[in-house]
Amino acid sequence: MNILHTSFECYPIAKVGGLADVVGALPKYQNQLDHEVNVIIPFYNNQFTKDSKRESLYKGIVRLGEFSYPYTIKRIISPDLGFKVFQIYIEGILDTSDVYNYENDTERYIAFQLAILDWINSEDSVLPDVIHCHDHHTGLIPFLIAHVDSYKTLREIPTVFTIHNAQYQGQISYDKLHYFPDFDTKKIGLLDWDHHINPMAAAIKCSWQVTTVSPNYMNELQEKANGLEGLLRHEKTKCAGILNGIDSQNWNPETDPMIKKNYKITNVVSGRKTNKKWLCDHFNLKAEKPLFAFIGRLVSEKGADLLPEIIEESLSNTDINILILGSGNSETEEQLELLKEKFTGRYNVFIGYDEKLSHIIYAGTDFLLMPSRVEPCGLNQMYALRYGSIPVVTRTGGLKDTVMDIGDNGFGICHDNASVGDVYYSIKRAIALYNDQKKFREIQKRIMKIDHSWNQSANQYIKIYESLIQ
Ligand code: ADP
Ligand code: GLC
Repeated sequence: MNILHTSFECYPIAKVGGLADVVGALPKYQNQLDHEVNVIIPFYNNQFTKDSKRESLYKGIVRLGEFSYPYTIKRIISPDLGFKVFQIYIEGILDTSDVYNYENDTERYIAFQLAILDWINSEDSVLPDVIHCHDHHTGLIPFLIAHVDSYKTLREIPTVFTIHNAQYQGQISYDKLHYFPDFDTKKIGLLDWDHHINPMAAAIKCSWQVTTVSPNYMNELQEKANGLEGLLRHEKTKCAGILNGIDSQNWNPETDPMIKKNYKITNVVSGRKTNKKWLCDHFNLKAEKPLFAFIGRLVSEKGADLLPEIIEESLSNTDINILILGSGNSETEEQLELLKEKFTGRYNVFIGYDEKLSHIIYAGTDFLLMPSRVEPCGLNQMYALRYGSIPVVTRTGGLKDTVMDIGDNGFGICHDNASVGDVYYSIKRAIALYNDQKKFREIQKRIMKIDHSWNQSANQYIKIYESLIQ
């Protein structure tokens, strides 16, 4: 089968969060199942691009209303990726250094999708058997294939749409409708949700199959989907929750080149000790005390706004270290920075994005805090488990599917609400576990054995594609 994944992120080329990790790993595992798997993303003017080679394969033109944009399809030459990656280059639109947050994001998303369809419509040799679209940035593709006359040769290609996060739907105002190629105007309702063009809603309505990234998040979406819950209930029969995996070849403490000392189950204690010591030396923390860390986008979905109070409460009343890695909401960033002075020697924060540091944290922290309010899947907890650090999580979304509480013979610490009180209570339970070193080490070893690789879920997607092709 020839599978085409369309996305705005793909690790290691361009990463903001878990979307990149998924699109950088799922295709690799599907390739290993003997399918031809290609990924198409925008061109980025970033470090990966500077360090890698690419060849130009095709040139075409996309039209957004009265504007014409010449585009080039480039292929990245890198056997290490484990699958083929194509990039669309459009001068001034798809040549940015970052992934999101440009004034012309809407134009970038639409131009990207139109260029993909124009390319595969023009070259028979690149026609996929199935198109798998990820998140709202590529959510218009199922509609465009189904209702734009000039793409009618693509109409038989099944489309799968994966919701990675229903909080972000990519709403477009109707004054941009003229960017769309001519389509059957009787179908305009398929684009609409709440008086906007809504690419996520359009994808839910028009794709052949909708998936999301954990079974529990699929259930939650029926009740709470940032306004799309009614639509998701209506389309329930074509929706499935498939748990994300992790790239366990890349995320492997035994071989990970980013961490300070490699280790496996048999030498987990000494291996993790070295990584923890490095973190504590580097961030002026106390290696003999339990270390709690948070890694992630500093946004309310992740419960990041709770962190300053959690830090105050925990460090005023208990003897632990806390380390934060992340960036996002500027007020939260400021509050987290301010706390450094008050709790010097027991608390630190690195505002920014640092892939290498994140690996060392997974390898060295005793506990990983995830006080998320919304967590469609969450990959951090799976990386933590693989590296032997114990997750402390809210029972929500994919966290509920992947972390079982120690009170139920599980291996993590769970609370029901994303609140300061709940998290503080969980921290106290974690300290009690840390003080029982025998149990703590037994759990560390147990969690490292859990298989969260993509093997199983990659197959589930293949089964879905096969059923659609039939
Ligand atoms: P989301 O996609 O909602 O941000 P996920 O848990 O699915 O959450 O994935 C987050 C990914 O981004 C993980 O690979 C995590 O390690 C990484 N990450 C998040 N913030 C940072 C950061 N500041 N520095 C390095 N890696 C980060
Ligand atoms: C989104 C979600 C996150 C999920 C990731 C990958 O960014 O917020 O929970 O793990 O996508 O699917």
